[in-house]
Amino acid sequence: MDQQDKVRNYYKLQAPIYDLTRWAFLFGRRQLPEWIRAVKQPKRILEIGCGTGANLAMLAKAFPESNLTGVDLSESMLQKAHRNLRRVAGKRVSLMKAPFGATLFHEEENFDLILCSYSLSMMGDARLQCIREARHCLQPDGLFMVLDFLETPFTWFREWMDINHVNFDPNLLMECVSEHQPISFRKYHAYAGLWTYFVFIGSPTPQSAHQSKRPAQPAKLLKLIS
Ligand SMILES: C[S@@+](CC[C@H](N)C(=O)[O-])C[C@H]1O[C@@H](n2cnc3c(N)ncnc32)[C@H](O)[C@@H]1O
Repeated sequence: MDQQDKVRNYYKLQAPIYDLTRWAFLFGRRQLPEWIRAVKQPKRILEIGCGTGANLAMLAKAFPESNLTGVDLSESMLQKAHRNLRRVAGKRVSLMKAPFGATLFHEEENFDLILCSYSLSMMGDARLQCIREARHCLQPDGLFMVLDFLETPFTWFREWMDINHVNFDPNLLMECVSEHQPISFRKYHAYAGLWTYFVFIGSPTPQSAHQSKRPAQPAKLLKLIS
């Protein structure tokens, strides 16, 4: 069974309890509108691995002028997303059932924000391709934003997350940095260091080429990467 089939099967069981349980460990999602607003008011938003649509619902409220697209490979998660988004976002949101790939979109549909929230760590070998292909779906001054797990010092925890198809890999951050010009980056501790997670904001073009209200933090990035 490949990674995508494993994830599909996993969410057949998890989708009904996803929104009730994930608040306890998928941290940072509530701050997404605030972090985005500090850099840009996006009009065309794509979430890769949108799951039950909770982030899209939040972003639809935070950015009332925006149109939103969600892509996910899990039918079970998308069924939840349809229900969660119907009232909140109505016609402003469209959902697609597919593993993410740039070929899903035409160039004229380019987005000004692409979000990956806790999805890259579940993609296995397709992760780097997703990070690369996101570039081709962004406006030149668009934002690529990642919120995800980064590191854990505990082998038992890494193994437990692996059973849940989540791959803890600090290379994830390096891959984001090597494919997108960093605008800002922050690392956070969860449960007194049981794990760390990060938020990365980057762009296809260097930060100086367009306006950003947030200072770049290259020193922090280099420190973490080295
Ligand atoms: C942990 S959930 C995160 C959902 C949502 N982004 C959130 O923050 O709550 C990961 C989601 O990524 C989806 N996913 C995993 N690999 C994917 C891929 N290659 N293409 C599209 N979606 C994918 C899964 O089906 C799942 O819904």
